[in-house]
Amino acid sequence: MLSCNLYSFQLFAEIILNTRHHGNRNRIVILNPKGGCGKSTLATNIAACYAQRDSVPAIMDYDPQGSTMAWLERRPKDLPPIHGVAAYKNSMQATRSWQLRVPNETKNLIIDSPAGVTHDDLRELTRDSSSILIPVLPSLMDIHAASRCIADLLLVAKIDRSERKLAVVANRTRKNTKSLERLMRFLDSLGIPIISVLRDSQNFVHSAEQGIGLHEMQPSKVKPDVQEINRIVDWLDGWEERRRQSLETTDIVRPARPIMSLLRKPGFGSA
Ligand SMILES: Nc1ncnc2c1ncn2[C@@H]1O[C@H](COP(=O)(O)OP(=O)(O)OP(=O)(O)O)[C@@H](O)[C@H]1O
Ligand SMILES: [Mg+2]
Repeated sequence: MLSCNLYSFQLFAEIILNTRHHGNRNRIVILNPKGGCGKSTLATNIAACYAQRDSVPAIMDYDPQGSTMAWLERRPKDLPPIHGVAAYKNSMQATRSWQLRVPNETKNLIIDSPAGVTHDDLRELTRDSSSILIPVLPSLMDIHAASRCIADLLLVAKIDRSERKLAVVANRTRKNTKSLERLMRFLDSLGIPIISVLRDSQNFVHSAEQGIGLHEMQPSKVKPDVQEINRIVDWLDGWEERRRQSLETTDIVRPARPIMSLLRKPGFGSA
């Protein structure tokens, strides 16, 4: 009886919540079906940066491994709070949208996705997104997987390139390597920006272990890494401007490379 009443209350509350306009929330989705490319690392560092700078951000973890929620549990209590939602858990006592609710005043919602998402997952994850970040490691196999992921975003999730909500973050790079050059050339040919290049650094591993972000570590040790995270956050902060520009422009953004060719093994050129 009690659970029935609770359920009715949730449905009623949802109707009210859903009629509220969340148009001023940046819904940031981090995805790449390839495992281990840095999705959770990006999600936690962006959340920590917003927590230090802004109002309380929310982080939503769709990965059954729960790495982001585990990071949040490790987070020292004296640091600025981050709201966490374990989206991978399914409760029989609550409706799905009740489980996924975040405080109304949340300005930045960061969504961490699992490896190996299906087409249906991709559609659900990217619905109403305002920014989509794809972390990519600079190896041939990872670049190939990223090209598939981008093709699925455009063809399956129907992300309109002219909305300019897609960006790539090159992760675990080493300076002046052929693979980084290859990654840059490949993405350039797609017309998708690389907004940041993160180096391979133990700082990321330490921040994950301690439940903190790079912005919360000793500045002298993490300066170059913090600068790169700031670049990402600057791009994310521009989401309303990007949306406004895309509504104003009548130009169709055409890639140098046709979309269907993404589904073939990328030809990386010979330069
Ligand atoms: N720039 C970096 N330098 C060094 N280590 C990194 C960097 N980025 C991520 N890592 C490490 O690589 C491992 C994988 O990163 P992470 O868990 O963020 O990937 P993921 O895409 O979320 O993986 P999964 O698909 O399994 O969820 C972690 O141990 C993380 O600490
Ligand atoms: Mg992860």
